[in-house]
Amino acid sequence: MKTRFKDKVALITGAGGDIGLATALRLAEEGASIALLDIVEDKLAASKAKVEAKGVRAESYICDVTDANAVKDAVARVIADFGAIDLLFNNAGYQGAFAPVHKYDVEDFARVMDINVTGAFSVLKEVSAHMVERKSGSIVNMASMAGVGGPPNMAAYGASKFAMVGLTETASKDLAPYNIRVNAVSPGLMGPGFMWDRQVKLQSETNTQYFSTDPKQTEKQMIGGVPLRRCGSIDEIPGAVSFLLSDDATYITGVNIRISGGE
Ligand SMILES: NC(=O)c1ccc[n+]([C@@H]2O[C@H](COP(=O)([O-])OP(=O)(O)OC[C@H]3O[C@@H](n4cnc5c(N)ncnc54)[C@H](O)[C@@H]3O)[C@@H](O)[C@H]2O)c1
Repeated sequence: MKTRFKDKVALITGAGGDIGLATALRLAEEGASIALLDIVEDKLAASKAKVEAKGVRAESYICDVTDANAVKDAVARVIADFGAIDLLFNNAGYQGAFAPVHKYDVEDFARVMDINVTGAFSVLKEVSAHMVERKSGSIVNMASMAGVGGPPNMAAYGASKFAMVGLTETASKDLAPYNIRVNAVSPGLMGPGFMWDRQVKLQSETNTQYFSTDPKQTEKQMIGGVPLRRCGSIDEIPGAVSFLLSDDATYITGVNIRISGGE
């Protein structure tokens, strides 16, 4: 068994979701204690049980990352429960609607930015303040290939993930004097899973020049643009996240690793 994270405490947001859970399990397999944060209670409980089955300590924290006071409180509770936070996977996110920019709903735009950017910023702020005191820590922010090249019909999501890449670069500079590394990962087309199915369906329904109105064709069109000619799987994400969080990456900060099959 690898023990890169023995005696480390990792906080994972969006831990009730596919990528949060897969990463929690990987960190647990390598010895980390896990603080799981999400807004959906039953998903969080299911993740906690699966992480505990790996034989490590896990605690869950119901929290809406868009509520800055709730984030402050949740982070304080994690520190009180575990004594410290060594690692942060800042992963909670929402994909938003699919529509061309001239038809994109302003309220949905604001909601996506609130969760994916302001929410992630609040978590980053609270956890990094704790890490600054300890002069140690490693953070991975969840971006996306939508934050590397703007995909059609995803104005809010693309803008939010570009923001996460920028926030990662600035935070890596602000926190470097305190021995805290901040990196990002950008998954591309990952499937099967909720986000993939939703994306294929909703892109087909936009009826724009980029995609067929037949979801089966849309799926082929999307994968056709990937040099490795397939979707990535959720299980291909935790390797990059755990590498960046670990002491295998002690001289790496401010980077954004694309997990995208060559896109
Ligand atoms: N799945 C993909 O294809 C893909 C690709 C690139 C990037 N991402 C990013 O990866 C991250 C995780 O996505 P996933 O695929 O696991 O999706 P998911 O929907 O399974 O998980 C997202 C989790 O975030 C939680 N969440 C949403 N809003 C929240 C809030 N306000 N407060 C707290 N928690 C909240 C949800 O409850 C959910 O459990 C997201 O940031 C997403 O944008 C996903």
